[in-house]
Amino acid sequence: VGGGGCMIMSSLHHPKDVKLKSSAADLVTETDQRVEKFLIMTIRRRFPQHRFIGEESIGAGEHLELTDSPTWIIDPIDGTVNFVHRFPFVAVSIAFTVNKRTEFGIVYSCVDNKLFCAQRGQGAFLNGVPLHASGQEDVSRCVVVTEIGAERDDEALTTVTTNICRLLKLPVHGVRALGTAAVDMCQVASGAADVYYHIGMHCWDIAASALIVQEAGGIVMDTDGAEFDMMSRRVLAASSSAVASRIAQVIRTFPCRRDDED
Ligand code: IPD
Repeated sequence: VGGGGCMIMSSLHHPKDVKLKSSAADLVTETDQRVEKFLIMTIRRRFPQHRFIGEESIGAGEHLELTDSPTWIIDPIDGTVNFVHRFPFVAVSIAFTVNKRTEFGIVYSCVDNKLFCAQRGQGAFLNGVPLHASGQEDVSRCVVVTEIGAERDDEALTTVTTNICRLLKLPVHGVRALGTAAVDMCQVASGAADVYYHIGMHCWDIAASALIVQEAGGIVMDTDGAEFDMMSRRVLAASSSAVASRIAQVIRTFPCRRDDED
């Protein structure tokens, strides 16, 4: 992950060749592709039997299927729009799953050199120091993190903006967006924020950080209150079950094609 971080940092201030993917706000650069190839090649050398789900490989047409086999779920640059603009929140996210469950997750926030990680049952850490979610139970005292996302159709935009209005009227202390789902989720794990929700992100954005939140004592579920499903394109992470349920009651969703839908 350090190698990937170095590649990102050495390209951050240089001109970039930017291409569009699913929408005008869904970008890919040569660095995203290069970092993903480097990570897959490095891991495959040690674990030739393991499977991979990489954002840019899927973007290039590879079939997405999460099986019970050991699988690495990789987002080479989470926050590509930030990377293109040099907005200083850009991360590498790597999750390792077995039987479709994340066993460990790493989120490396390159610009501020913060390495968030967690292993199932072993706690969550930031640069080696244990992380704890805030435990906040009163929604009116919460800082909420969310993302506008890359969807730009009317239904998505209306839902996203209406959700923010509904939360501000609850009220909550504030609503924030860093531009990287992985780092947003890690704010909940570290107690700097109390809630994160997002509709429309992909499994590679949150597979690692969901475990980091859980191992920090936080709650992770679907935005409709159902069990967390990393393929559903919906996630709600919170400091406590009380806050998670309250937020799930308030926010609305819009239809998104599942990541694993054929
Ligand atoms: C994006 C970021 C962003 C979120 C988008 C994601 P990417 O990931 O996590 O915060 O709003 O929905 O697609 O494309 O930069 O890896």
